Amino acid sequence: MQRTQSWQMGGIKWLNLLSLLFAVVETAQKSDVGTDTTAALINHSSMIIHRLQDLIQYGNSSDTTLRIHTINSDEVKIIHTHQLLLVLQSDVFEGLLVNQSVVTLEEPADCALIFEKFIRYFYSGEISINLNQAIPLHRLANKYHVLALKSGVSEYMQNHLASESSQGHVVSWYHYALRMGDEGLQESCLNFLAWNLSTVISSSEWVTVSDDLMVSLIQRSDLVLQSELELFTAVEEWVLKNNPDVPVIEKVLRSIRYPMITPNQLFQIQKKSVILSTYHNSVQDLLFQTFQFHSASPLHFAKYFDVNCSMFIPRNYLTPSWGSQWIINNPARDDRSLTFQTQLGPSNHDVSKKTTWNALFSPRWLPVSHRSSYSDSVSSNSQSNRLEEGRPRLVVTSPMSGIDFAGVSFQKTVLVGVKKQQGKVFIKHVYNVHQSTDEVPDFLIYADLQKKTSEYLIENSLHLHIIIKPIYHSLIKAK
Ligand SMILES: *[C@@H]1O[C@H](CO)[C@@H](O)[C@H](O)[C@H]1NC(C)=O
Ligand SMILES: *[C@@H]1O[C@H](CO)[C@@H](O)[C@H](O)[C@H]1NC(C)=O
Ligand SMILES: *[C@@H]1O[C@H](CO)[C@@H](O)[C@H](O)[C@H]1NC(C)=O
Ligand SMILES: *[C@@H]1O[C@H](CO)[C@@H](O)[C@H](O)[C@H]1NC(C)=O
Ligand SMILES: *[C@@H]1O[C@H](CO)[C@@H](O)[C@H](O)[C@H]1NC(C)=O
Repeated sequence: MQRTQSWQMGGIKWLNLLSLLFAVVETAQKSDVGTDTTAALINHSSMIIHRLQDLIQYGNSSDTTLRIHTINSDEVKIIHTHQLLLVLQSDVFEGLLVNQSVVTLEEPADCALIFEKFIRYFYSGEISINLNQAIPLHRLANKYHVLALKSGVSEYMQNHLASESSQGHVVSWYHYALRMGDEGLQESCLNFLAWNLSTVISSSEWVTVSDDLMVSLIQRSDLVLQSELELFTAVEEWVLKNNPDVPVIEKVLRSIRYPMITPNQLFQIQKKSVILSTYHNSVQDLLFQTFQFHSASPLHFAKYFDVNCSMFIPRNYLTPSWGSQWIINNPARDDRSLTFQTQLGPSNHDVSKKTTWNALFSPRWLPVSHRSSYSDSVSSNSQSNRLEEGRPRLVVTSPMSGIDFAGVSFQKTVLVGVKKQQGKVFIKHVYNVHQSTDEVPDFLIYADLQKKTSEYLIENSLHLHIIIKPIYHSLIKAK
């Protein structure tokens, strides 16, 4: 009523007009067209959006001027805006505009560059974004408290970790998330880096990794990469380019798992590596222990040394001696099996010993209890339907299971790959089991293998990689 009156009084200021237009749209949406056959919906909402965009485009009826001053430059950009629209979504603008109609804002260059685009979002509710704009846009949304936009950008970043970019972007996003205290994004970036490490190592952003990020990455056992030697080489490159403080170098060098490198290769790098000879004293004990590890049986070795430390825990190595890739075409069709061999362990003492493994993949496996109760499931809700359809399962066993593995237990790690741009395969999930994926609640649970469009199918195939890791923990009591 109030709004209509000001219209009739003829004082049509644009603000009143705007509220009137909003009121019309609102009424139209609320009207119940269903019950009254004479009722109809007149829907001009897209026209209103266009009008609003004209307002910012031409600055008509502007009541607020923003002067965007680029920090460390003389550049000033002027944008004619409307207080109502700024205040509608940002309490920071509300505070800034209390008594003034001209506001000067200081922004770093990357934010200043997209400031106009950011303001347009206030008038249209939409904004296009690319990898390079994510951080400055998130920064603006955060600074001006545009919360919906902030979470939208955060979500965009989580969904685009794997996108192809010329220099890589996940390392800078991680550092940004850390500064912002965005733990969700931080965690996603860290997992991405850990599980897709070979890709990251070969990108130009590897050398931009901060000291803290390097230290936290290199301590993880779930890194997915070709071999420990690949990691050592990458770390050396990082040290030479970044020249970090000596304690950082020492910490990083001591986190390399030398026993996972063959004695041949170790001998080579000991002779060739610049940092290894510079910091020889810092890692001498580890190298000595490693050569001892390689020359005795693990059982014998464990009698004298504590093997319950990270140095003896394999990471997720992709080279064939550690496991096998398994590409299953049309995985929803039926059960499949694969036989492959791995080394008995990384110790050079066991270099000629191989272990055979059988893997069985079932796309729709049912626990026995569910199979029998099939008939009496009268009240079948969707939950039990899902269970009755069965779910994917992978079991890895050795026909040599009767054989004494000298107290070594074998952990199986299943990597699930998905494809993103440029035909590259990226790791989406890492599952650790003793024998069967029954041990984990969520194995491929969202994979939708029946659907041709499933994210998990690359040319209609499921990409798995099974890694067998000898774990020496159980040997420790022999000490
Ligand atoms: C009015 O039209 C717009 C697009 O032109 C549409 O998105 C909106 O849902 C429509 N509103 C109703 C109530 O149908
Ligand atoms: C805004 O101004 C431009 C140019 O002055 C004019 O063409 C346009 O019709 C105006 N738009 C509105 C919504 O008043
Ligand atoms: C705005 O102006 C009013 C009156 O001129 C004054 O009382 C008030 O403190 C001012 N507020 C701010 C935030 O400057
Ligand atoms: C590794 O990259 C793939 C790219 O598609 C992504 O889906 C996966 O989530 C990444 N891993 C992690 C832990 O983020
Ligand atoms: C190995 O070390 C971990 C943590 O350091 C400890 O929890 C575990 O009990 C140790 N295992 C043995 C067998 O000593």
